[in-house]
Amino acid sequence: MAINIQNVTLKISAGEPRQILGDPIPQIAFSGRSNVGKSSLINSLLGRKSLARVSSAPGKTITINFYDVDKKLYLVDLPGYGFAKRSPEDMRKFSALTDGYFTSNKNIDRLKLVIQLVDSRIGPTKDDEMMLAFLKELNIPYCVIATKVDKLNATERKKNLEAIRSHPLIEGNEVIPFSALKGEGKEDLWKTIFHYVKA
Ligand code: GTP
Ligand code: MG
Repeated sequence: MAINIQNVTLKISAGEPRQILGDPIPQIAFSGRSNVGKSSLINSLLGRKSLARVSSAPGKTITINFYDVDKKLYLVDLPGYGFAKRSPEDMRKFSALTDGYFTSNKNIDRLKLVIQLVDSRIGPTKDDEMMLAFLKELNIPYCVIATKVDKLNATERKKNLEAIRSHPLIEGNEVIPFSALKGEGKEDLWKTIFHYVKA
C-alpha cells in the first residue's frame, strides 16, 4: 500500500473523549511531555512548516489531534504531560482525554504503535517513565525518539543515547535519534511507522 504523505489534513482536534476517532484506519500515536518537540516532529515528518502548532507557551492546548494521512493512516498527537503550571480543571481534562484514548477506547486495536518522545538532553523523566510503564502494562508496542539531538555535541550524544537505550523500560525497543531542525531521523521513523501499519 503506497501512502502519499503530502495528502494530509487535520481531521479533528478532539477536546472531549467522545470525539476520539474509531474509524477502521490504523493509528500511530505520539506521546511525550510538554515542550519535548512533538509538534515539531510531526511537522518535520510531514514536510510541513506549521501543520501542527509549535508552541512558545508549553502545555496550552489539551486536545488529541488526529492527522489524516492519505485516508490510510492517522497520526495522533496526544496532549503533552508534565506541565507543572496546569490548573486543576486542565488536569481533569488531560486525564479524561488520555483515559478516553488508552483505557476506555473500544477501538484501541486501531492503535499500532506509540512513538514516545524523550528529550535527548535530559533522558527519561519520572513522567516519561510512568508513561513507558503504562504502555508496557497495556502491551502497546512503543518506540522511543530522542529529540533535539542537534543540541548535543558528539560526546554528549554518545553518552546520552547509550543511557536512553539501556534504560530498563526502553531496552529492546527501537530508539531513533531525531532532529526536527536538521531532519535527522525522519527516514528511520517513517520506515518504522510503515512497518507497524504494514504499508
Ligand atoms: P506542547 O505542544 O506544548 O506539548 O510542546 P511540543 O512537544 O509539541 O513541542 P514543540 O514542537 O512545540 O517544541 C517546543 C520547543 O522546542 C520549540 O521552541 C521548538 O522550536 C523546539 N524544538 C523542537 N524540536 C527541536 C529540534 O529538533 N531541535 C531544536 N534545536 N529545537 C527543537
Ligand atoms: Mg505540541
